[in-house]
Amino acid sequence: MDNREPLHILAASGSSRPDNYTRRVLALAVEELHSRHQVRVDLIDLSTTDYPFPGQGPSQATHRAQELVKGAAGILLATPEYHGSYSSAMKRFIENLGFPSTLAGKPVALLGAAAGQIGAVKALEHLGSVCSHVGAFVLPGPVSVARVHKVFDGEGRCLNPEIEKRVRGLATRLMDYIQTRICPRAALEQSVR
Ligand SMILES: Cc1cc2nc3c(=O)[nH]c(=O)nc-3n(C[C@H](O)[C@H](O)[C@H](O)COP(=O)(O)O)c2cc1C
Repeated sequence: MDNREPLHILAASGSSRPDNYTRRVLALAVEELHSRHQVRVDLIDLSTTDYPFPGQGPSQATHRAQELVKGAAGILLATPEYHGSYSSAMKRFIENLGFPSTLAGKPVALLGAAAGQIGAVKALEHLGSVCSHVGAFVLPGPVSVARVHKVFDGEGRCLNPEIEKRVRGLATRLMDYIQTRICPRAALEQSVR
């Protein structure tokens, strides 16, 4: 029997539209985590959380967000592409993570969803840049899903096996990073105490 504590992964979805596609993309990655790894995934829908603007907080939601990030071994951030960047809901979440940020030192994997054929490239560039700026370790190869409304059906099923593979692959890469770079270090620290 395996008595190890499950690793905590935080997954945050940054769209505020009802029936949004970003949540469907993230759900695939979360399903992959659950199916192949011993993890507990804390899933937050950033549209349902009323994070204060800088200078107007902190609120209970701020503290909760920071605790979730501190307790996470890795983080999955999923954003829609809005006006050539990532969503304001995602920015507000990041602004609530403290200054200095609790994201510092955390492995972060990025997913993006866009209606356009270019995909969420700009959203991911901007989000990756901000995450790096606050000290997160951003995994190379963020996954952008272009023409996302053609890729998922109404039930959230992915209709394109190649895209599904890339989204699931990102979840696996995040776990590989944690297990090869972070877990061995923790084990070594314990063994020399
Ligand atoms: C305010 C707003 C701005 C948007 N800007 C872009 C854009 O710049 N490029 C693009 O491809 N799609 C754009 N879209 C479409 C979204 O990418 C599309 O809704 C997609 O499904 C991802 O967002 P969702 O998770 O909210 O569904 C925009 C949508 C909204 C609501």
